[in-house]
Amino acid sequence: MKTRKEIIGDCTLYMGDCLEQLPRIERVDCVITDPPYGDGADVGYGTFDKTIANNADPLMNCAMLRGVYHCLRKNATVYNFSNWKHQDFLRAYIARYSNLQLRHSVVWDKNGMKLGSDFRPAHEIILVLEKGKPTYRRKDFSDVQRFSIPQHTAETHPHQKPLPLLKGMVAHSTNVGDTVLDPFMGSGSTGVACALMGRKFIGIELDERYFDMACKRIEDAYRQGDLLGHLEEPLKQELMEV
Ligand SMILES: C[S@@+](CC[C@H](N)C(=O)[O-])C[C@H]1O[C@@H](n2cnc3c(N)ncnc32)[C@H](O)[C@@H]1O
Repeated sequence: MKTRKEIIGDCTLYMGDCLEQLPRIERVDCVITDPPYGDGADVGYGTFDKTIANNADPLMNCAMLRGVYHCLRKNATVYNFSNWKHQDFLRAYIARYSNLQLRHSVVWDKNGMKLGSDFRPAHEIILVLEKGKPTYRRKDFSDVQRFSIPQHTAETHPHQKPLPLLKGMVAHSTNVGDTVLDPFMGSGSTGVACALMGRKFIGIELDERYFDMACKRIEDAYRQGDLLGHLEEPLKQELMEV
């Protein structure tokens, strides 16, 4: 399989299979990731996007959690995007077969319905998993986060997550200079949040199209961040967290 490594500012991006790359990843302070949900495992529940690698494999999420554990520092949080269909087996897997503890679940309210019938989807669930006893920085972090889905075009990832949602989790669980890992980076949204907020980032993505999108978006984010360069440090930090 073709692999690549790109370093852009404080972001290190690997193109390849995260299950192969994770054993080589250094210690990180937080994981924020949005795995392929495995919605199409031919078991008759729902449709799935066949253009996304491993989207027919609901166990890919579990394999990532096994691989990611050793990358985490002693006290660290994993934010794991998921949907309602996977809660039973994902939670059972975490409880029985992982060393992570389920701390909470956060609802991402998409601020409007998607296409569908009977029960039109308007939310996703972010499982908050802990290794050790991580600390949380924000006093205003709700377990319902309401942000609209970014508009999808030919130039974007079909499952791109909203930047303010990701920035909120980065701000809640890390300090400036900490490192965040996203093993299913897609178009690099977690990396963009980190680049704008002075965090280091490690991202892994299998699909070259999305890897290239991530490189471009993160380069653009650093260019945007440079616009703040002339400001005094406390004000700059404050603006980066917004
Ligand atoms: C739901 S998408 C992530 C989208 C991302 N949150 C964004 O905002 O662009 C999941 C991504 O995982 C990638 N992927 C699937 N299997 C993978 C694997 N084994 N290793 C690395 N990436 C993988 C897919 O190509 C897809 O881009």
